[in-house]
Amino acid sequence: MKSKHMQCIGCGSEIASHGTSDYRCVSCGMTFPSIDGIGIFLPKPMASLFGFLDEIESAQFAFEKTQAELGEYLDQNPASELSARIRKTLSGMECNLRLLKQQCAPIQNYLNGFSRQEDFLSWASVQTAYSYNHMLGYFYQDWHPTADFVSATSLFERVILEHCRDKASAVVLGAGACGLLHAISGHFGQAIGIDLSLPTLLTAKDLMAGNPLTVHIEKAAWNEAVISPPSKPPYNLTLLVANAMNVPLKNSTASVVLTQHAPEFNTVRLMGEIHRILAPDGLWINLSPGFIFPGDPGVLGGRNLGESLSYIHKRGFSLVDSRIHRFRMHDFESINRESGTVEKNIHFFAARKSTVLDITANSYKSNDPGIWQAIPKMADEQMLSLIQRKTFTGVRIENRMELGIRDYLLPIGGTYYHIADALFSSIDGKRRLSEVYDNLLAQQITLSESEFIEIVGFLAMECGIINYHATDNRLDKPSRYLSTESPPVASRHE
Ligand SMILES: C[S@@+](CC[C@H](N)C(=O)[O-])C[C@H]1O[C@@H](n2cnc3c(N)ncnc32)[C@H](O)[C@@H]1O
Repeated sequence: MKSKHMQCIGCGSEIASHGTSDYRCVSCGMTFPSIDGIGIFLPKPMASLFGFLDEIESAQFAFEKTQAELGEYLDQNPASELSARIRKTLSGMECNLRLLKQQCAPIQNYLNGFSRQEDFLSWASVQTAYSYNHMLGYFYQDWHPTADFVSATSLFERVILEHCRDKASAVVLGAGACGLLHAISGHFGQAIGIDLSLPTLLTAKDLMAGNPLTVHIEKAAWNEAVISPPSKPPYNLTLLVANAMNVPLKNSTASVVLTQHAPEFNTVRLMGEIHRILAPDGLWINLSPGFIFPGDPGVLGGRNLGESLSYIHKRGFSLVDSRIHRFRMHDFESINRESGTVEKNIHFFAARKSTVLDITANSYKSNDPGIWQAIPKMADEQMLSLIQRKTFTGVRIENRMELGIRDYLLPIGGTYYHIADALFSSIDGKRRLSEVYDNLLAQQITLSESEFIEIVGFLAMECGIINYHATDNRLDKPSRYLSTESPPVASRHE
C-alpha cells in the first residue's frame, strides 16, 4: 500500500512507512503498528492489540465451560447416543482454539516485552460482534466456496466491468475472510481490505499466502472442512485493521468501495466515509440486507430497497444498478446435511459518487442561492434519450414523444419534450445552473425561475438524472437569481 494514499486517523495528516515497520503520522507523531504487514489504524493501537488477545481467553473459557458441561453429562450417561457428537464438538472447539492461537502468534510476538494496557474503550472498540468461531463460517462460505458466494461475486464483477471508469484501487470495508477482496483484486491496480478484526485478517492472509486451513464449523455440527488456498496468487493486496467509520485513506482516493453484509455498521457514518474516500465518479457497490438508518422506527425493521435507495441518493450518490438478490447465508449442507440454511432476499446496488454532497432536496425548495452556482451534468449511466416516434397502425398514424431512461420509455407531452430537449442539451458539464437557465431563455423557453428549479430538483432528487460538479471559484456575476420578485409568466412551446 502506498503510504501517499493514507492518512492519520487522528489528525488526517500524511503517514510515513518504513518498509515493513510501523506507520507513523508525520504531523502528530501517532504510531500505528504493522503486524505481519497488516497496519493497525486504531486510536489506541497497543491497547487494542491486547484486546485482540482477549479473544483467545474468551474462546478458551467457552471451551472449558462446554468441556465441563458435556463431561458431566457423559459421566452420568456413559452409553449415551450423544457421545460421538459430544466428542466431535469438543474436538472441533479445541482445534479452532488452536488455530486462533496459531494465527494470533504474530500479535503475541509483537507485544512481547510490552506490559498490558488496560483500557476499556480500546478493548470495546475491537469487538465486532463476531466470534472467531463464527467468522470461520465466512471462510468456508468464501473459499470452499458456496454457490451463493460465487453468484454474489459475479454480481460485483459484472458491475465493475460495466460501470467502473477508473481501476486504480478498490477498497472492501468489513472484508472478513477476504474472498470478495481476492476475487475482485485482479481488476484493480491495488485492492485494500479493511476490517476491525486482526485475527480474521491474519487468518485470511495466511490462507492467501498458500497455507490450507482446517476449520470446524459450529453451525455444521462442528464438522471439519479443509479450505484450500486460492489457485490464483493474491494480486496487489493490502490488509488494514481499521474501523470502517474512520478509514485511514485520504479523500477521493478509491475508485471503488465494496461492502457486503455490513448491516451492523452505523450506516450514516459509513456512507459519509465511503463518500469521502471515493474518487469523483467512484462507485460504491453493496450487497446486504436492508439498512436501518438513524431515526427509522425500529419496529419496521430494515428498509426495503426503494426506501434505502432514496436515502442514499440524498447522501450524494446516484444509482447505477440495483436488484433484489436471493442469497443463502452460510450454506453448510455439503458438510452437514442437517445444518439447514436461511435463504434471504437481500439488496444489491451500485451507486456513483456525485460530486456535490450539500445539494439537498431543501436547496431546491428554499431556492437556495447556492444552487444557481452548481454545475449540473447528466448522469450518463441513466442512458437518457428523447425519442420521437411515428407509429403506423394501418388506420391512423400516431406521433409519439417519449423520454427513455435506461430500459424505461415514458410518454412525454409536447411541452415537456421541448423543455427536456433544451434543458438536456444545455447541460454540458461546464455551464452553471444559472447559465443553463439563461440558455433556455435564449431558446424562447421562458420558464419562471421557480418552475425551472422545480423541474431540475425533480430530475436530480427523484430521478437521479442530473448530478453536480463541485462549483469552482469563478466570481459570480451579480445575480438576479437571488431576487424575490415575482417570476415572469411562463410561455411554453407547444
Ligand atoms: C457479517 S461479517 C461479513 C464479512 C464479509 N463482508 C462477507 O460478507 O463475507 C462482518 C465483518 O465486518 C467486520 N466489522 C464489524 N464492524 C466493523 C467496523 N466497524 N469496521 C470494520 N469492520 C467491521 C467484522 O469483523 C466482520 O469481518
